[in-house]
Amino acid sequence: MIPKETIEDIRNRSDIVAVVSEYVALKKRGRNYLGLCPFHSEKTASFTVSPEKQLFHCFGCGEGGNIFAFLMKIEDIGFAEAVAELGGKLGLSVGKPSAASITSSEKDKLYSVMLLAAKFFRSNLEAENGQPARDYLEQRKIGAEASKHFGLGYASANWDDLFKHLIGRGVSPELIERAGLTLPREGKDGFYDRFRNRLMFPVLDVRGRVIAFSGRSLDNSEPKYLNSPDTPIYRKGDTIFGLNLAKDEIKKNKAVILVEGNLDVVSSSQAGFANVAAPLGTALTIAQCKLMARYTDTIVLAFDADAAGVAAAERSAEIIRSQAMKVKVVSFTGAKDPDELIRNDGAVAFKAATLQALPYLEFKIRRLLKKFNLGEIEARSQALRETAKLLAAEPDAYAQKEYAALAAGLLKIEPETLSAEIKRQGYYSRESKDLRRVTEKPGSRLEAAEKKLIALAAETEGTLAALKGELSAEDFTGTEARKIAAIMFAQDLAGGDIAHQVLEKLADEAARNYLTSAILSENLEMPADLLRDCIAVVKSESSKSRIAALKTALREAEQGHDAEKSAELISALKNEIY
Ligand code: UTP
Ligand code: MN
Repeated sequence: MIPKETIEDIRNRSDIVAVVSEYVALKKRGRNYLGLCPFHSEKTASFTVSPEKQLFHCFGCGEGGNIFAFLMKIEDIGFAEAVAELGGKLGLSVGKPSAASITSSEKDKLYSVMLLAAKFFRSNLEAENGQPARDYLEQRKIGAEASKHFGLGYASANWDDLFKHLIGRGVSPELIERAGLTLPREGKDGFYDRFRNRLMFPVLDVRGRVIAFSGRSLDNSEPKYLNSPDTPIYRKGDTIFGLNLAKDEIKKNKAVILVEGNLDVVSSSQAGFANVAAPLGTALTIAQCKLMARYTDTIVLAFDADAAGVAAAERSAEIIRSQAMKVKVVSFTGAKDPDELIRNDGAVAFKAATLQALPYLEFKIRRLLKKFNLGEIEARSQALRETAKLLAAEPDAYAQKEYAALAAGLLKIEPETLSAEIKRQGYYSRESKDLRRVTEKPGSRLEAAEKKLIALAAETEGTLAALKGELSAEDFTGTEARKIAAIMFAQDLAGGDIAHQVLEKLADEAARNYLTSAILSENLEMPADLLRDCIAVVKSESSKSRIAALKTALREAEQGHDAEKSAELISALKNEIY
């Protein structure tokens, strides 16, 4: 158990904006910061962080909370771990969580096993029996420096070298299997190594921990690349190969060059491109985009030059755009991938190709127009429609106009013809999801009043006291509002920030999210008499519902000819009304 004071101290000394900024690109908007929510997919920023309140809330998906809640959610860790991590940043050593989180200690064990394995593969590569891997690296023109930089290693052709090595270090067979390093023998007891006779690429997470391996066959055996299975510490679709080494340069360059293959990463890094990474052979996922978005909003796709590479680039580009990130597409000829391009024509050729990368929309337009014989009117007309459709989906009005001008030039038509068609297409294709989200659930006057009251009560002790004098928790009709009011109105609220105290005491997640939403709602500009107005609304509504209940009871009493009860109810009704 971490002492309550320590937790509070860490919370008070940490800055939620700084911590969130490590994961989300935030922009200042008035008193708050806004960014794209890391917890759901969105195009319009609704993720709000308040430096004053030290709270976050996403008005898109409803997630909210304090700095601990943010870390727990984004890192998928427990409360104690989140406290320890933030404490660590402040130079406090908070007792490592032990029994409190079995899963975290199990993960720690897996990280250690993976590190042991990476060191073993590495020493194999450098040892005498590593000759096959060293030969291969030489053949691929990967030098010693790059090999060391990426921690490349060698898994020998033997059946259980790694297994034996790890057992010798006291690791249990079960843990080795859980780490994805061995497979059980068929029909027999025991295990054998998953990776044999392969050049080993360790896969690191952005914190520099070895979480998986990708092994390239040295003898043309299939599969060409064998990857770790998903484990408790590794999810393929959440990971970008090389990102850990590249992240600082990506920030500096304001862009990441994304290539298809592990070897493309190593090769281009060796050639002086330090901001290169690869998505481990999967179709690019939203999680991978969000991971890269921590460092840049621009992805330069330098996928293979073949049809499969172009198709993968188009698919990936759509996913990247869905995350409101920018995409450029690199094209090159005379080589199948960046590794080959660099080997054949040198780093300058790759440099030139990346500098000539086309913004995605231009890439799409040019590719589209190649399909048509623009000399024919019918073909031109269809090209016009399809181009307009592409452009209509562009949310940035300025970009749309510029690309429309470009496309009109290529189509050899008047820009006005194209813009008219874009407008027409726009009616059909425009996404109104974000719009709907805002206008949906307008919320009754009562709901709004209750939410404002909760926000006001969390403001200062003064407003809370004023509210307590006027209302009771039962006056709130909303489930969440009532739960929050019950805690706020209870006597045992210690001094200090009301919102954070209530958040700590609220077991119900929906109620916690309601509270952060109430506090961070921007329409909470507070005129002096707002408190009184809201109290009046809630009081009158709660009185109305009491009157309704009394009337129902009265009707029943009269039907049952219960004169005494009826008289009682009538007097209660009179009290309520006057
Ligand atoms: P490529 O086949 O394009 O890789 O696959 P490459 O890097 O160009 O291969 P070589 O070494 O130069 O011949 C691109 C990526 O797809 C994944 C790997 O991550 C690889 O780097 N892949 C490919 C697999 O996971 N399994 C495979 O069998 C093949
Ligand atoms: Mn290749």
